[in-house]
Amino acid sequence: MTDDIINVDYREKIPNNVNLTEDRRVLKALEGWHPGYLDWWNDMGPEGFQESLVYLRTAVSVDPKGWAKFDYIKMPEYRWGILLAPPEENRKIPFGVHLGDPVWQEVPGEYRAMLRRLVVIQGDTEPASVEQQRHLGKTAPSLYDLRNLFQINVEEGRHLWAMVYLLHKYFGRDGRDEADDMLRRRSGSKDAPRMLGAFNEATPDWLSLFMFTFFTDRDGKMQLESLAQSGFDPLSRTCRFMLTEEAHHMFVGETGIGRIVQRTCEAMKAAGIEDPNAIDKVRALGVIDLPTIQKKLNLHYTLSLDLFGSEVSTNAANVFNASLKGRFRETSIDDDHKLEHDIYPVLKFVDGAIKLVDEPALTAVNMRLRDDYTRDCAKGIERFNKIIERLGVDFRLALPHVAFHRDIGEFKGLQATPSGVLIDESAWAREKDKWLPSLADGEFIASLMKPVSEPGQFASWIAPPKVGIDNRPGDFEYVKLAA
Ligand SMILES: [Fe+2]
Ligand SMILES: [Fe+2]
Repeated sequence: MTDDIINVDYREKIPNNVNLTEDRRVLKALEGWHPGYLDWWNDMGPEGFQESLVYLRTAVSVDPKGWAKFDYIKMPEYRWGILLAPPEENRKIPFGVHLGDPVWQEVPGEYRAMLRRLVVIQGDTEPASVEQQRHLGKTAPSLYDLRNLFQINVEEGRHLWAMVYLLHKYFGRDGRDEADDMLRRRSGSKDAPRMLGAFNEATPDWLSLFMFTFFTDRDGKMQLESLAQSGFDPLSRTCRFMLTEEAHHMFVGETGIGRIVQRTCEAMKAAGIEDPNAIDKVRALGVIDLPTIQKKLNLHYTLSLDLFGSEVSTNAANVFNASLKGRFRETSIDDDHKLEHDIYPVLKFVDGAIKLVDEPALTAVNMRLRDDYTRDCAKGIERFNKIIERLGVDFRLALPHVAFHRDIGEFKGLQATPSGVLIDESAWAREKDKWLPSLADGEFIASLMKPVSEPGQFASWIAPPKVGIDNRPGDFEYVKLAA
């Protein structure tokens, strides 16, 4: 493999490993898009920290081993690059009607609109999360956490670059228009919202951020995993490299929740509080009680389930059939990869009850991906439960039932408890504050959100991490705040 595919040229204005200097048309288009991107970053990126020096990693190669280089930089000077994973030699399409054909290096005309839509939907989520998280820097529980937030933010910015590159390179004029629209929509806007529900919700506090990166970035991982299977090779290679960055986002979510849970249990033990539901007593310790953590989990998990779309979907079937978006770990699934005769069990609302119904596997690919996602989430929840157990607190976190608090698919418009019992509207209105964060819960969490900016210090409600980023010592100054 040649070095220019692995290594990224940082002498270029737009660092890349796609030989952009030789591609005058696309280079010009991207150079035209660049100033608007910077305006967007300055307007909608982390508020109040654009002048700070942040200890960030930048990709210098797409080699899975050692691609990162750490250094202090100001975020607006981050080198957002266009990085594709190295091509797999003789790669064949792994699913759908084109199974076994050589992968496409150009967009097949018949699938152009479908493919563009996939790229646009994925692309739109990237800047959305930056917008959702832009106020959080002001309440960071430590410089370590602040750095992690900014690392995620610049990488989501880079993911937008990755998708915009595909639009400019492969979709001509409509691709350019779509790329411009990415900078026009805004998370939570009435007139021009982001495309998917969860990306228009507020991320008001750091518990929300960690829940978002645990649950919603994990949806991102599942989507990228299935796009990485695509017969359209440039999309596959783009997503494969994005996944290496996505892993860090989920690490931040998982360790963030784990550290909060740990701190709560430690504080309860130290104060001799046995009952996890003694909420006022626990809160008086300056930590977040476990039932409130469960409510936040309920909220973010269900918002993220909605991102998978309808359980049974002809659109999803068409996209799979066209060999554009596969399943999670498609190549290690033992079946015909065409789903011509297979069935898949789908949880549905039938005759007033929740029932498992066999559906053609082809129309149930969303459901299957969501099941894979749920399994992935459940493993993380068990790791939190290990922490609680180890610290001797009698409480378990759990994923709510998929019928609970849903706005898309089979269970939209119904009301169910977290354990999946159907209830009526009045019961829902009466009980919902027990299951989802209430206004008072939000106010309590907000009251804890005081910034801590002394190196090595952490807010009362979160334990320090076990190890530093880039193996730095505990008191490392991850962010040098601008005076
Ligand atoms: Fe992303
Ligand atoms: Fe992410």
